[in-house]
Amino acid sequence: MTFRPKPLIAGNWKMNGLRSDLRQLTALGEGCPAAIRAKVDVLICPPATLLYVMAAGLLGSGIGFGAQDCALEPSGARTGDISAEMIADCGASHVIVGHSERRLGHGETSAIVRAKALAARRALLVPIICVGETLAEREAGRTLAVVRRQLRQSLPDGLAGHEVVIAYEPVWAIGTGRTPTLAEVSEVHEGLRGDLRRCLGRAAGDATRLLYGGSVNAANAAGLLALEHVDGALVGGASLTAADFLPIVRAAAEIDATA
Ligand code: PGA
Repeated sequence: MTFRPKPLIAGNWKMNGLRSDLRQLTALGEGCPAAIRAKVDVLICPPATLLYVMAAGLLGSGIGFGAQDCALEPSGARTGDISAEMIADCGASHVIVGHSERRLGHGETSAIVRAKALAARRALLVPIICVGETLAEREAGRTLAVVRRQLRQSLPDGLAGHEVVIAYEPVWAIGTGRTPTLAEVSEVHEGLRGDLRRCLGRAAGDATRLLYGGSVNAANAAGLLALEHVDGALVGGASLTAADFLPIVRAAAEIDATA
């Protein structure tokens, strides 16, 4: 039997969500009773404007929340930026770093992503470090080389297990309704797991969650989540309503951890 970490289903609301959307949280809480949460960790990453009210909205639900990005410094003259300390101060537990919409849209290099992951740990947040290839890189046969390099350059030394989460998100699968085949996802996750084991040791490498992200939905979640080295999902569009998100959470809860 291979060790499998408890799955994590994380919703990334991106630049979506007003206070009126917090109505979703009641249905979400009702759909994630203790029996489900015993088998799967559930996290919502709303826009920064909603972080503070999430603490009250999710109170008693057992569902966690996190941010989508953080600044490098704890405070200072950085107009418009939000520090990991401020995110933690809202009661959040996680922060996504290095999402492709930040790597590509905001010029964030792996060195910056690594520094953001360290900033997250400084504030005792768990960074969710994203890696993923573009369509051109996949078509050039460079997928594994690209994501392994991103992992090597973005993961700070010594972070492992519950201190960090890695998310493999092919850029061309995000928001497009297209996903890699299960075999293609397996190949990348096996490659990343191998690297984690090599640099952290087998036990810590296996305990570090590897999420898949990119057009995950109720129809494809069970197949993706059943893959040996897929320890959960980072979900964009399908996390915006409880009706779309809960079937993914339930699919994760149904994975046989002893399989
Ligand atoms: P998607 O986004 O599920 O809408 O494809 C995933 C992500 O960008 O994290």
